[in-house]
Amino acid sequence: MYYTPDMQKSMELVEKTRKERQKQQMPLLDAVGKVGLLESHHPDYIKRIFRKLKVGPSKNTLTPKEFADVLEARSMIDPAKFDVSKIDYDVDVLIVGGGGAGAAAAIVAHDAGADVLLVTKLRVGDANTVMAQGGIQGAAKANDSPAIHYLDVIGGGWYFNDPDLVEALVGDAPDVLAWLEKLGVMFDKDPDGTMLTIHGGGTSRMRMHAARDYTGGEIMKTLKDEVQNRDIPCIEFSPAYELLTDGKKVTGAVLYNMETREYLIARAKTVILATGGAGRLHVDSFPTTNHYGATADGLVLGYRAGVPLVFMDTIQYHPTGAAYPEQLLGQLVTEKVRGLGGQLVNAKGNRFVYELETRDVEAAAIIRECAERKNGVETPSGYSAVWLDTPIIEDIHGPGTIKKRLPAMYRQYQRFGIDMSKTPILIYPTQHYQNGGLKIKVDTETPVKNLYASGEVGGGVHGRNRLMGNSLLDVVVFGKRAGAAAAERAASIRRPGKLTLGHLKKFHKELTAKRVGRNRVAPILLPEYRRPEKAKNKVDILA
Ligand code: FUM
Repeated sequence: MYYTPDMQKSMELVEKTRKERQKQQMPLLDAVGKVGLLESHHPDYIKRIFRKLKVGPSKNTLTPKEFADVLEARSMIDPAKFDVSKIDYDVDVLIVGGGGAGAAAAIVAHDAGADVLLVTKLRVGDANTVMAQGGIQGAAKANDSPAIHYLDVIGGGWYFNDPDLVEALVGDAPDVLAWLEKLGVMFDKDPDGTMLTIHGGGTSRMRMHAARDYTGGEIMKTLKDEVQNRDIPCIEFSPAYELLTDGKKVTGAVLYNMETREYLIARAKTVILATGGAGRLHVDSFPTTNHYGATADGLVLGYRAGVPLVFMDTIQYHPTGAAYPEQLLGQLVTEKVRGLGGQLVNAKGNRFVYELETRDVEAAAIIRECAERKNGVETPSGYSAVWLDTPIIEDIHGPGTIKKRLPAMYRQYQRFGIDMSKTPILIYPTQHYQNGGLKIKVDTETPVKNLYASGEVGGGVHGRNRLMGNSLLDVVVFGKRAGAAAAERAASIRRPGKLTLGHLKKFHKELTAKRVGRNRVAPILLPEYRRPEKAKNKVDILA
């Protein structure tokens, strides 16, 4: 047993109340209750976390300070001196990012006959997609429809979502599930072949399709296999470090090979940014579920080239990040645990919120329980957390359910001597997703011509709060749309455009005029975890 004596005492209360709690109906909060809870305890409402951008197409909009710092930073490239005349790669469609959106885009653009190049900062598949656990939404059952899915999505986003993007998301979903299955994704099914589906927070129908609790891993593996089987050219450890434009349209990118430390020029008729999220910026020091490369690179590149940002003042904190043992701090404990009946319980053994409220509400309720009501369980490193009662899942669905439906999670805890089918686990909210991002249209084109953005780097579809399972859906729906649109546009372009860094010169000038970002360089590419006195400037690392 890995729990401290104090934790064990509290756990006894959790065990004592389990039978009663199983029968307990927790009420859903009404709109007034939700808004009150968010305003008092959701980090999106803490003013000191944000500042207004001073430069760029979205100046004056509120952004978490960590995001503003990378958005308002200089490029490592000096646009006045950098030579863009030697072209190393010349393609129709350049895809930046090797996660789910990038891979889906590559497959579809390749289908359309485009000459595709995929470049990625780490390896193909090193992305948040691979870390998504619980499932992918899609209205594919008789009691459901894209219209009902639509209502859930915009309700979850507080009705701020871009309606056209939501329509695209939910309308494409059934076909996307079929496309993934055809490529080889092994979704969980009943013995008769019916897809096994459960609820997520804020869903009115059971439409969460899963591959156990490694759904993103299964999808990413399948997409990566498809990219590799088609011999689509991919360059790993080579992020795009800057976009190239002809002053009006995007015409390519400067790549940086992290192994050889060389800059390379890629000329492209169209460019797709599929660089994913930004959890490694650690807003207000929150831990994160995100992969090592989630450092907002695409936002930085797109913003400098002139793409406005939307919904940057809202971040998703996943309600159930691991809080203990410390080695797992911030890692995802899938919402599927609550979808299967897992209950949130405070130190005294009491429930305090219905477990399938939307994520923003759920996270705020946990923060309130620990901060204001002082009903959290203290961990040895001084964190406060609440219990996620997992053994109750075995009581509801029968012994062996956790091993069968949540095998990865089970193994993750077993490594630390915790058997989550027998003992509850400790959780606290963790930075999970950027609800906002680069402004896009339904074909994923940004306001900058020939520049597309898909997946987490794009913004608008989820409004102010995303529902579980709509991110895996988003990366495939908009990845596919990006691949199709970028390939079609590329086919219509006869002569490639001029390659310049004019937009960067302009951006640097604006930074200088506003006296911001003088000592910062972005994209940061890799997060900095060394002690400040050991941490050299990124320029030293990369140059
Ligand atoms: O909880 C989860 O499994 C996460 C899924 C998601 O963010 O969509």
